[in-house]
Amino acid sequence: MAFKTLDDLLAEGVESRHILVRSDFNVPLDDEGNITDPGRITASLPTIKALVEGGAKVILSAHLGRPKGEVNEKYSLAPVAEALSEALGQYVALAGDVSGEDAHERANGLNDGDVMLIENVRFDPRETSKDESERGAFADELVALAADNGAFVSDGFGVVHRAQTSVYDVATRLPAYAGKLVQKELDVLSSVAKEPEHPYVVVLGGSKVSDKLGVIEALADKADHVIIGGGMCYTFLAAQGYDVQKSLLQEEMIDTCKGLLERFGDKLVLPVDLVAASEFSADAEVKTVELDGIPEGWLSTDIGPKSVEKFAGILAESKTVFWNGPMGVFEMEPFSKGTAGVAQAIIDATAKNGSFTVVGGGDSAASVRVLGLDEEGFSHISTGGGASLEFLEGKELPGVAVLEA
Ligand code: 3PG
Repeated sequence: MAFKTLDDLLAEGVESRHILVRSDFNVPLDDEGNITDPGRITASLPTIKALVEGGAKVILSAHLGRPKGEVNEKYSLAPVAEALSEALGQYVALAGDVSGEDAHERANGLNDGDVMLIENVRFDPRETSKDESERGAFADELVALAADNGAFVSDGFGVVHRAQTSVYDVATRLPAYAGKLVQKELDVLSSVAKEPEHPYVVVLGGSKVSDKLGVIEALADKADHVIIGGGMCYTFLAAQGYDVQKSLLQEEMIDTCKGLLERFGDKLVLPVDLVAASEFSADAEVKTVELDGIPEGWLSTDIGPKSVEKFAGILAESKTVFWNGPMGVFEMEPFSKGTAGVAQAIIDATAKNGSFTVVGGGDSAASVRVLGLDEEGFSHISTGGGASLEFLEGKELPGVAVLEA
């Protein structure tokens, strides 16, 4: 990959220079606004620390959720600023705006080694605008924060698949470098994409088949097995003729799933039993059932124990694993066993079979931490859900391509 990296920037020298960094601090929050999984904050630290040690004036930019171009306190980066201050061991001030007066005053007032965060870039509608000139005007305001001798470091791997102002347009206006996280993620994912050691097993979950269609098509040719669980498996089961009752179903995708099953045959591995619940609630009545046994009016919320055993058997033989998407509604304890079981089987494959195992961001990465599994048990936990999938699909990532230009 031909782009400049943080090491190049550090070699040029960052002392007293304003360095604008795009990070991905899109962390999950509970109803009280507490961060439930700080994984992305932790992953951002090496780049920030290296800049601080080099004496840079660090300006961090990031988004949280999808506030749709409006200021909305619910999506303020305040909890992130607090968590980051703690993790870094130094105060990270949060500007009261994105690229306005407060952000500019604070940026001007930074001392060497100081770190500040601007407010959620998606509070400004120009961040995600399709109009290049609107994005350009916003990019000019962000770039102005970095003053005369500034530079841009792209470190928000989870967002490099978005051609948005703070990811893409700023990189065309400042000397731009890949941060440590982006570099590490691309190194790992490139090795999986280019030369996976076989047997190569892909495990896919998550709610929508339509979101994973591209990746199933792209990976089923390369992988030896594609295990399918989670919300998306019910559309496949419906395509096989099972009555999935009230389980998540994308009816318009049933024919597509039939086509995939015909095309890839046994390579696509589906559950053999399910956990069924009387309603979508942790207090529901729960039963383990055969594929044709979901009681009338019930829904399936997890894969069953025989499925975990079957998937674990395949994973035990693997040499490379890419996992994206939980196997069930892991956030509710009665429906977390499928995800926990498959995650443990991947950890075991890493330890016992020397398998190179990658967790592809988003909910699956969160599930590892929320379920208290051993993070160190995987070869790599990516911070990018959509970004890692698009990379493995072979799509160009605009936030990376712009660094190569
Ligand atoms: C993510 O959570 O996958 C990234 O932060 C990107 O967020 P987005 O899907 O809202 O662009």
